[in-house]
Amino acid sequence: MRIALVPLLFGATSVASTLYAASYAGTVTTLSLSQSRGHYELETIAQSSDCGVNPSWLMLDREHRVLYCLDEAVDYTNGTLTSLAIGANGTLTRIVQRETMAGPVMSQFYSAPGLPNRKFFAVAHYEGSAVTSYSLDPITGVFNRSQTFTYTLAQPGPNAERQDAPHSHGVIVDPTGQFVLVPDLGADLVRIFYVNPATGLLEPQAPLVAAPGSGPRHGVFWTPKEAAVGQHETMFYLVSELSNGLTGYRVSYPNGTISFSEFYTTNSYGGAVAPNASKVAEISLSPQNNRIVLSNRGDNTFGTNNDSMAVFGCADATGNVATNITFNGLYPAYGSYPRQFEMSAENEMIAEALQESDAVVVTGWNGKTGKPGPLLARKSLVGQVVAVVWDS
Ligand SMILES: *[C@@H]1O[C@H](CO)[C@@H](O)[C@H](O)[C@H]1NC(C)=O
Ligand SMILES: *[C@@H]1O[C@H](CO)[C@@H](O)[C@H](O)[C@H]1NC(C)=O
Ligand SMILES: *[C@@H]1O[C@H](CO)[C@@H](O)[C@H](O)[C@H]1NC(C)=O
Ligand SMILES: *[C@@H]1O[C@H](CO)[C@@H](O)[C@H](O)[C@H]1NC(C)=O
Ligand SMILES: *[C@@H]1O[C@H](CO)[C@@H](O)[C@H](O)[C@H]1NC(C)=O
Repeated sequence: MRIALVPLLFGATSVASTLYAASYAGTVTTLSLSQSRGHYELETIAQSSDCGVNPSWLMLDREHRVLYCLDEAVDYTNGTLTSLAIGANGTLTRIVQRETMAGPVMSQFYSAPGLPNRKFFAVAHYEGSAVTSYSLDPITGVFNRSQTFTYTLAQPGPNAERQDAPHSHGVIVDPTGQFVLVPDLGADLVRIFYVNPATGLLEPQAPLVAAPGSGPRHGVFWTPKEAAVGQHETMFYLVSELSNGLTGYRVSYPNGTISFSEFYTTNSYGGAVAPNASKVAEISLSPQNNRIVLSNRGDNTFGTNNDSMAVFGCADATGNVATNITFNGLYPAYGSYPRQFEMSAENEMIAEALQESDAVVVTGWNGKTGKPGPLLARKSLVGQVVAVVWDS
């Protein structure tokens, strides 16, 4: 669905896309990206303060026109979760809001074959050292908590300041849809849950143990782009905030379980010494399925307040055959602290949430060369921008 509010300037303007951006200042902003004779512009078309005090993550159900928003509520005992109905004009209207465990920072949908009319999502709670699961009715956007898993550490990890307690940081669903992974920055683990296919409930499995002090944050699975290519390899790439690490694992499914075998490890600078105080944040596969893109926060690689995006090759040009990982260089983020970014397959673009620049930027992505393109548009917002997602 496209947004109809288009300022028609000289008949040459078209709305390319709609995006939603979350700011710690308590807003979720609907942005339109328009293009006029090659010049791009990001404009605010609606804004909601219905997601609580510190919106931290957005999850879009594009088909059902519902945006799910996590509120980290940084200084509060509890966070909140809110579903927002997306109006035809881009307005966001609260459906339900529920209190949850402290510090929700990332969530992901999954499904259970036995309950086709339900959807589910899991939430990683950084401050609350917890993982929660929810069931939702995708048509109404109403959701209920099903499970709460809380964790403790017997003693602090090697990085005592950051690893004082378990800190669930990410949620990733495996390509079979049967397993949910939650990297835990505090515990140096990737927690693993089996999704019960009849109930959608999460069943804890033995975790994947990460390097001590590495601080697992986010991850992404790779499978061949086309299913029928004869190669059925599955890879998992984990980024770890405290070591700026990128670790590759071969994934197998012995006897209905999931198993990981490490085959590659580097850092988000391709093995070079990471600049002081830099912290890797987000990881994504390119739409072509042959590049891994990471965001580095606070490295000032391209000058003051201009951090970097790191690109690695991980598959051949078809995106079907996994190859040795190659470091393909650093590219400007066009701002400070790219905490999260999303690549758009339709547009061949990257939208970045620049936390310390209080801005969203959109850059190009050249699928042929596998490189980020130039800065296309920038929009300053109020407060730290921590998440941005594409609608169309
Ligand atoms: C946007 O749409 C909603 C219903 O979807 C309506 O209540 C609201 O008045 C509209 N706002 C504008 C500015 O058109
Ligand atoms: C709010 O946080 C407290 C403290 O962690 C927790 O016991 C309680 O269950 C939370 N409330 C909800 C609704 O999750
Ligand atoms: C949520 O809970 C309400 C009240 O118990 C129930 O009617 C509804 O079906 C539940 N929805 C989901 C998606 O679990
Ligand atoms: C496979 O899993 C089943 C059920 O958990 C178990 O009974 C069986 O022993 C396992 N087989 C092997 C070869 O591990
Ligand atoms: C690294 O950065 C921190 C905080 O910005 C600063 O206190 C420290 O002196 C820096 N260390 C080096 C070696 O530059």
